[in-house]
Amino acid sequence: MTGFEDPTGPHIDQASSLRQMVAATPPPLRVIGICSGKGGVGKTQIAANLGVLAAKKGHRVLVIDADLGLANVEILYGIKPRYHLGHLLEGSQTIDQILAEGPYGIHVLPAGSGIQGLTRLDNAQKLRLVTALDELEDRFDLVLVDNGAGIGENVLFFTSAAQEALLVVTPEPTSFTDAYAAVKVLVQQAGVRHFNVVVNQVSGEAQARDLFAKLTQVTDRFLSANMRWVGYLPRDENVHRAAMAQRPLVELYPASPSTRALANVASKLFDEPAPAPVDGGIKFLWQRLFRESPLHP
Ligand SMILES: Nc1ncnc2c1ncn2[C@@H]1O[C@H](COP(=O)(O)OP(=O)(O)OP(=O)(O)O)[C@@H](O)[C@H]1O
Ligand SMILES: [Mg+2]
Repeated sequence: MTGFEDPTGPHIDQASSLRQMVAATPPPLRVIGICSGKGGVGKTQIAANLGVLAAKKGHRVLVIDADLGLANVEILYGIKPRYHLGHLLEGSQTIDQILAEGPYGIHVLPAGSGIQGLTRLDNAQKLRLVTALDELEDRFDLVLVDNGAGIGENVLFFTSAAQEALLVVTPEPTSFTDAYAAVKVLVQQAGVRHFNVVVNQVSGEAQARDLFAKLTQVTDRFLSANMRWVGYLPRDENVHRAAMAQRPLVELYPASPSTRALANVASKLFDEPAPAPVDGGIKFLWQRLFRESPLHP
């Protein structure tokens, strides 16, 4: 048997080492910007709870509280971070010092509360932030950006780093018209193409589907936006109760209608392939920054 080698041997080795390499390659970073036209529609609740559900599915989750000046996400997680984005922007703390740990190993980039001057980041602040975020790219595979209300400059900035938006709409007439306006601005000024739509605070699925159909009727006609239904949340008093208890809803009321609805949204969002080609992420922020800087100091 000298000189004989099993011809399948090396192939098996190659195949298994390839599999190991694939398994070892970290999944690409997915950045989802949570947006709405009108404020107070449930973005922070949805961001905080989707963060928990994604972490439970094994994702390495970073939640960026981009509602600068208002400490929203940390309240819902019941954490009290020592430092916040303001410290990073003034240069007194590093990104690692300000990252706070929430439930299920979720990391939070806290916005801090009561900070003046963050409602519109200047270019020097954006540069500091993007430099810091760049360092995080390999440490997470899912970034949820909880934006403030409306589509201001900060929302455009943060959402331009996202490959997708999660658009939260409610049945209130102003929420609907503002949602259309938000999609338009995000398409035209932040380059967002993929919108996952969640209809919140509805009486049931029929009302939510009806609203989604009406919204897509206008967006399909006038905008090059890819609108995708990811689900709805019923109006549920437990949402408010969980916020008062400063605990994630999905943890405190696992059997509530809103938790079940959020679980459906999470499986649509995280178990099905991402709709966008996954490229970009933090690098989009760089591009945006360089595009803006020379012209708008
Ligand atoms: N499905 C729901 N049922 C009942 N109450 C809800 C539901 N979703 C959100 N809420 C309540 O609506 C209020 C606004 O929610 P939230 O703070 O998440 O909105 P937001 O869009 O983040 O607001 P903002 O634009 O100010 O950041 C909160 O009091 C929250 O508890
Ligand atoms: Mg909010």
